[in-house]
Amino acid sequence: MTKTLLDVVHADHRNMAVLLELLRSDVDALRGGDDQALDIERLTDVVDYFGHYPDRVHHPREETMFAVFREHHEASPELGNALRRVHEQHETLPKLTVAVSEMLDAAAHGSLVLRDELVTQLDHFIESQLEHLDLEEGLIFPELREKMNAQDWLKVEALGPQGRDPIFGAEVEAEYRNLYRRLEAFLS
Ligand SMILES: [Fe+2]
Ligand SMILES: [Fe+2]
Repeated sequence: MTKTLLDVVHADHRNMAVLLELLRSDVDALRGGDDQALDIERLTDVVDYFGHYPDRVHHPREETMFAVFREHHEASPELGNALRRVHEQHETLPKLTVAVSEMLDAAAHGSLVLRDELVTQLDHFIESQLEHLDLEEGLIFPELREKMNAQDWLKVEALGPQGRDPIFGAEVEAEYRNLYRRLEAFLS
């Protein structure tokens, strides 16, 4: 079977889930009072990735998929509801990435950011991302996979947006090499 953009975004979800697991392990250590875990750069790397690829390329691609779906197919009521919720999340998630990035940036530049506040914000970030992945994988992708045809997928691909994954794409971009090494160690 030909690989469609749905396979690509599904693979993106697996990658995002692993990064969220890595971030979760840092946040748990931070919550436990481990000062070693307060490595702002490490936390920032993961959040930056979400701003770089999922927010800018992955979610817009999904929006294209949904638009093409709606143009050619009838959504079940469950799918219609899920699409409305996910569309809202596609607006709010990038804002959350920016808010968390700004907080981490302030902490990196010496502002007094309370540990509890940082943990709460990062928890919220992780939970929001996971809830979003579950909604797409659980309620949206199965019906898209069932109803969309090869022509629909060609259309989605032509409409874009185009963009490369800076970690899991053909090569790891320089700014993400540390994160990639950590990920390898985390998974080994
Ligand atoms: Fe997604
Ligand atoms: Fe999404």
